[in-house]
Amino acid sequence: MLNASSSPDSGAAFDPKQFLRVDELEAVAYERMTTMAADYYRSGAWGEHTLQWNLDAWEEIRIFHRALVDVSRRKTAVTLLGSKSAFPFIIAPTALHKLAHPDGELASMRAASSRGVPLILSSLSSTGVEEVCAVAKHADVWMQLYIGKERAHVLDLSARAQAAGCRALVLTVDTPVWGVRERDIRNGFCIPAGIQAVNLMRSGAAGGPTGHTGAGLGEALGWAIDASLSWKDLEWLIAKQSLPILVKGVCRVDDALRAVDAGAQGIIVSNHGGRQLDGAPATAESLPAIAAAVRDRACVIVDGGIRRGVDVLRALALGAHAASAGRPILWGLGAGGEAGVARALELLETEFDLAMALAGCATLEDISPDLLRG
Ligand code: FNR
Ligand code: LAC
Repeated sequence: MLNASSSPDSGAAFDPKQFLRVDELEAVAYERMTTMAADYYRSGAWGEHTLQWNLDAWEEIRIFHRALVDVSRRKTAVTLLGSKSAFPFIIAPTALHKLAHPDGELASMRAASSRGVPLILSSLSSTGVEEVCAVAKHADVWMQLYIGKERAHVLDLSARAQAAGCRALVLTVDTPVWGVRERDIRNGFCIPAGIQAVNLMRSGAAGGPTGHTGAGLGEALGWAIDASLSWKDLEWLIAKQSLPILVKGVCRVDDALRAVDAGAQGIIVSNHGGRQLDGAPATAESLPAIAAAVRDRACVIVDGGIRRGVDVLRALALGAHAASAGRPILWGLGAGGEAGVARALELLETEFDLAMALAGCATLEDISPDLLRG
């Protein structure tokens, strides 16, 4: 029996060993949160097809393991654009961690730091980038950016992120408008009193909307994005920055090439966890062609439906340098705060290491496309 509490209670005991896979954190986390928060986290857009395809596509990939390889010593560590990770994984940016747990992003970052895994901080985080960087002792922070109508706000936030110690910037480009998540509309999603998208407030959006009132994401957070965003804005942002910039939310080869030609140092193959265009391909489907086109010139990361360490191995065999996940981290946070996030990361890392051994891979270079062909 899992240790589930029936009320949103961050103080209930959390026993990491009760959870044998990240999925098991989900139900406990959602029971401890308000319905509005749980629905916000679980939702995909419209019919939630892409949300489901992301999951199905990884499961369908068969691995032709190599026999009789000495895998007694395995190396899982990786460096992504100068940031070290204990295994080829980075935490995806997700908004408003305080909806999941009162310790919010500080708990997530402390866990990431203790496991040596970098974290991409959402520009819509409920803890300021300076506070998050202050607890990032053993892992780097990358800053995710949305660009709203007032273009200059993003320069202020990226300058703050760089001053605080962030090592890269991640511009999300799959959100000209918010995808329609029907549960959020029904629940009248808004940011609860006491929680704020503090980064944006402090970077010039103060005095503007706070997201405390609204009826769905469009009203609560519409001010954070802008439908007129275009390649000109990416070029402008790259020209103004010295930190590496990754472009997140790409599913086409031509877009990946154009972003790298414009100076982006990384591509995150992502459909926003099925939350934007329902009908977008599963990321496991988009990844191989993009990786083949740009992996020698840019860091390629994939997210969407990564739920097991073996999915990370599949992602690398398809050409990614690393994988990333959003919801599993939020489940850990909701279920057990810092200890819950640490457990989610431990499970993914341990499974990845064992999957390498079972597939006959001692190093990351051994995880090559032939594993998928036999
Ligand atoms: C997200 N995602 C996201 N992406 C981003 O660039 N900025 C953000 O603030 C958020 N916020 C956010 C909130 C929640 C609740 C979710 C579930 C997702 C998308 C995220 O970075 C990532 O692309 C997906 O979460 C990957 O899919 P999985 O791992 O959740 O299946
Ligand atoms: C979301 C935004 C915040 O997916 O990225 O909810």
